[in-house]
Amino acid sequence: MIDSCQRNNRPRSTARRRAALALAAVGLLAAAGAVVLPVAASAGTTLGASAAERGRYFGAAVAANKLSDSAYTTILNREFNSVTPENEMKIDATEPQQGQFTFTNADRIVSHARSRGMSVRGHTLAWHSQQPGWMQNMSGSALRQAMLNHVTQVATHFRGQVVAWDVVNEAFADGGSGARRDSNLQRTGNDWIEAAFRAARAADPGAKLCYNDYNTDDWTHAKTQAVYNMVRDFKQRGVPIDCVGLQSHFNSGSPYPGNYRTTLSSFAALGVDVQITELDIQNAPADTYRNVVNDCLAVARCTGITVWGIRDSDSWRADQNPLLFTSSGAKKPAYDAVLAALNGGTTPPTTPPTTG
Ligand code: G3I
Repeated sequence: MIDSCQRNNRPRSTARRRAALALAAVGLLAAAGAVVLPVAASAGTTLGASAAERGRYFGAAVAANKLSDSAYTTILNREFNSVTPENEMKIDATEPQQGQFTFTNADRIVSHARSRGMSVRGHTLAWHSQQPGWMQNMSGSALRQAMLNHVTQVATHFRGQVVAWDVVNEAFADGGSGARRDSNLQRTGNDWIEAAFRAARAADPGAKLCYNDYNTDDWTHAKTQAVYNMVRDFKQRGVPIDCVGLQSHFNSGSPYPGNYRTTLSSFAALGVDVQITELDIQNAPADTYRNVVNDCLAVARCTGITVWGIRDSDSWRADQNPLLFTSSGAKKPAYDAVLAALNGGTTPPTTPPTTG
């Protein structure tokens, strides 16, 4: 199995080269009796480079129609080493008419990312939402076959280009029931999720296959436990699952839980990777962003973090200002906190160091 770091080795190796150069420079300065730098020489200056130094990626959800906005792409290209298409790989976008697939916008994002050494997370192959009209009207074995064909066709199109797929999205109900969400897909039979995973594995054996959901961050919640039990069952029965995505949309109604690290480590202990897939936090408190990053860094199998948009104005919850960059593209305090956490608590220099 190729892991995401191996598939995405350009940022990491670039970061390593930079770190090596920095270390060499420190050595020369030290030999010359110069003052040693006040910060760790390996401290990165962008989210992607700093995450790569920790063996992880740092990604953003990207919208194809924003790739012509140079203010947007300047930040994207500078800061991130992973990309998730925000809407362009969804069922309604990729199969608007049954059997007619359109990949133009998704391909644009994939091309933009891969040509710059960024990895791509695929989102999402099977979901009760964002279904095209033809699928919404289907049921039973016809729907099951249509869903499996969709998974196969889309995963095959992007074979080798997507490091991880959100194969199934949001299949569990909210609240305390721990039950599956009712949907046309669920009504095709409880085994629809594992059928989707098997089809995805057959279509792209090299991609990591994830189950992705929201409100699965608090370890004590019934929904978290229900997903945990499904993943444990899949691992026991050999259903091909490699990772769990925690969307982690935090706000006053669904706050960052103090046991988040327990949730990450508990999933990881099942033998899957854990990825934070859609992070945004109402009002972007620096402390909470720092906690999320430190929780991920504390769990070896937490392999990366994706924020759900770049600037506040790009967010699906723009009124909550939940992201790392202001609408005009300035770094927010939460950005500094995330970068410092990725750098192990050190703050990178804002100007080139002098030898005094
Ligand atoms: O592109 C059309 C445009 O042509 C039309 O004029 C306009 C009118 O409403 O709609 C536009 O499409 C919208 C699309 O975003 C692009 O902006 C859809 O209506 C709107 O429903 C869609 O919302 C997306 C939402 O998923 C759909 O479920 C959000 O951008 C996207 O951020 C959000 O992402 C989800 C993840 O996939 C799963 N987890 C939750 C997360 C947040 O809701």
